[in-house]
Amino acid sequence: MKDIFTAPFLEEMKRTTANMYRLGYDERNGGNISWMLDEAEVGEYLDLTNVLRTIPTGFDASALTGKIFIVTGTGKYFKNVETDPETNLGIIRIAKDGVTAELLWGYKDGGSFTSELPAHLMSHIARQSADPGNRIIMHCHPDYTLSLTGVHEMTERAVTRTLWKVMTESIVVFPEGVGVLPWMVCGTNEIGEATAEKMKDFRLVIWTLHGIYGCGKTMDEAFGLIETVEKAAKMYLLGAALPRINEITDDQLRAVAARFNLNYRKEFLD
Ligand code: 13P
Ligand code: ZN
Repeated sequence: MKDIFTAPFLEEMKRTTANMYRLGYDERNGGNISWMLDEAEVGEYLDLTNVLRTIPTGFDASALTGKIFIVTGTGKYFKNVETDPETNLGIIRIAKDGVTAELLWGYKDGGSFTSELPAHLMSHIARQSADPGNRIIMHCHPDYTLSLTGVHEMTERAVTRTLWKVMTESIVVFPEGVGVLPWMVCGTNEIGEATAEKMKDFRLVIWTLHGIYGCGKTMDEAFGLIETVEKAAKMYLLGAALPRINEITDDQLRAVAARFNLNYRKEFLD
């Protein structure tokens, strides 16, 4: 059996959480990540018959029975993952009953997975049908994206247009636009269901006055989506107090879409 502390997926979780913490995307215990791992790869590091304990999920995740995830712990700080991954992360497998998570490694202090597990697992289920290669669901609280939700009309069309029009690369990175939820209580099955519904159509979902969700086949894809939204929101807000003289027009967005052969959300343009 190989040493789990040398596993590439553990290294990547450590690098990513540390990076996001330093960017200010994840104050205190803010944010969470779940990554659907390959069973054969995890089996190189862990005895998959050794269940340390079971934890109820609180909802039916039977569509993910047998799937293994590495998930950040609830109440845990991203800044501490790097130095103590075994306390701040856990590796869980969804049991046959669909409502139990089997802990295979981690949460060493008796802890548990993120309170946002419903939004994560329900989004994994939604993304599996939209994109079977999807592996990552990522949630965080980046400054400008969060600030934007307090001062901007919160419809998907309005937010997407703003983000597309301040920065040319936006439509290239997220041609489907961004999904938007109104303010809701976090950590509930309800916000999980609403997020997953949006994840059928979008790889990005903004939670008003809370933060953002991104997803992807890889950590780079999920993080890259979020950092591009954050950059565009920043560009918008840095100029928000000044008269806006230039913005990318709808025709220019169409020209970018033609050049990069984008399957963009056409109803978001005039
Ligand atoms: P957890 O500490 O439970 O992951 O919650 C953090 C968070 O961002 C809630 O939305
Ligand atoms: Zn949050």
